[in-house]
Amino acid sequence: MTEQFYITTPIYYPNASPHIGSTYTTSYADTLSRYHRLKGADTYFLTGTDEHGEKIAEAAEKAGVTPQAFVDQISNRFRSTWDELGLKPNGFIRTTDPDHQHAVQHFWQLLYDKGEIEFRGYTGRYCVGCERYLTERELENGKCVQHLTEPEARTEENYFFKMSQHFDWLIQEIESNPELITPERYRNEVLSMLRSGGLEDLCISRPKSRLEWGIPLPFDDGYVLYVWADALINYLSGVGYPDQASWETRWNGVHHLIAKDILKPHAVFWPIMLHAAGLPLYKGLHVHGYWSMDNQKISKSLGNLVDPLVMKEKYGFDPFRYYLLREMPFGLDGDFSEEAVVRRINDDLANDLGNLLNRTIGMLHKYFDGIVPDSAGEHVLSETASRVAEEVDVQLQAFSTQRALTVIWELVSAANKYIDTRAPWKLAKDESQRDSLAAVLYECLEALRVTAVLLESFLPETSPRIFERLGIEPPTGLLGERLRWGQLPAGATTLKGEPLFPRIETD
Ligand code: MSP
Repeated sequence: MTEQFYITTPIYYPNASPHIGSTYTTSYADTLSRYHRLKGADTYFLTGTDEHGEKIAEAAEKAGVTPQAFVDQISNRFRSTWDELGLKPNGFIRTTDPDHQHAVQHFWQLLYDKGEIEFRGYTGRYCVGCERYLTERELENGKCVQHLTEPEARTEENYFFKMSQHFDWLIQEIESNPELITPERYRNEVLSMLRSGGLEDLCISRPKSRLEWGIPLPFDDGYVLYVWADALINYLSGVGYPDQASWETRWNGVHHLIAKDILKPHAVFWPIMLHAAGLPLYKGLHVHGYWSMDNQKISKSLGNLVDPLVMKEKYGFDPFRYYLLREMPFGLDGDFSEEAVVRRINDDLANDLGNLLNRTIGMLHKYFDGIVPDSAGEHVLSETASRVAEEVDVQLQAFSTQRALTVIWELVSAANKYIDTRAPWKLAKDESQRDSLAAVLYECLEALRVTAVLLESFLPETSPRIFERLGIEPPTGLLGERLRWGQLPAGATTLKGEPLFPRIETD
């Protein structure tokens, strides 16, 4: 049976335009989905916008438009930005879509019918930024640690999802499945959160008298659903739950990619919601770190959001994407700086990769008129290439783009080193070494071809440019076939050209 790979990003709040954070997660998921598709999996990549809730209603009011007009505009901006950046989700879900609303109502009716929901009075401290009541432990000096604002005291009668009765089940699930939440530090964080006793049942409703901008509760239309109780279900509705039969097949291969800021809803609320509904758990929840800028939080109010379209204009999107995917170790935080972007472009892309292409094709033009010689190569780099390909697979199965790219650069460095040691310019001086010269250059050209194949998922605009310079059509077939060593045909006409990545001059 074909393997299923269904990858999701969080659905972003359309109260700010796409910035480095959402661009990072979306590029990451785009890379993984391309990779798994190339390996032959039946792949689906979902992203979208999370459009209900108080935060959005307030932002719309401030902008002087209706919530619907407000979210229409910004949701479109997300969609068009991903398109402009060449990010290719298969689905873009909006929580205002009628299908989604239907799925959400179906889901909560199901839980209501199963006796999982209770109506109770509640007084608590509500943080508008988080869109939820905070527990004592989540406060520091009486303030929300994320938003640094004092939550409001609120008393209400509401519907509660009796989540706490499933905590023991969840602890057992997480303990028995080390792959469920990765990297391990977040798995440990969730386990200690669950064991601490600080978690409670989940309030899933908001009275309409206070908030109208939401999906009505199917069993009480005096209330709308709490935005997280609405948003999480996008992962199901996005693949056709509950009406299209195909959703279950997709669901068998579902992996969620998020940042650490929304660990709790994804690692506690969501698995318990699924369990209570009798649905299978996700295959994996993968948690990356947070970007800061000059060690400050990235936020709209600080005006340091980093517009991906500006980055594209300045550096090209592939180089920026390379920086994002290469710089931050999976699960750890990273500090963004343009100097670091420029360093990555100059060192890794221009010097290592660009130079390898230029010098190899330069020598081929000098010694063989630019035509790929009839040679099987020396089979020196082929071993490195196959080890690298295997390791890339291991790293991407573990969701680490940073390690995967580091490993690909081992092949690039090995090829550069190989040129230095075999010194083709010396071989060229001796006519009897003509075959060796052909073999050495063939080896480098083939290493470049394999590198371009390995980079296809990471740098989708760059790989075709490398194939073009090598004088070949972009390869077809699955990854394993594309990687097979020795496919560069003799007689192909390579192209000299502009550097792949022009160096960026700095003072
Ligand atoms: N709408 C909710 C998610 C609901 S999912 C069912 C939400 N939206 S958000 O717009 O705030 O997006 C949060 C996500 O955006 C993070 O989990 C991460 O994927 C990405 N990022 C936003 N800022 C980020 C950084 N500074 N660094 C890294 N990723 C960040 O939460």
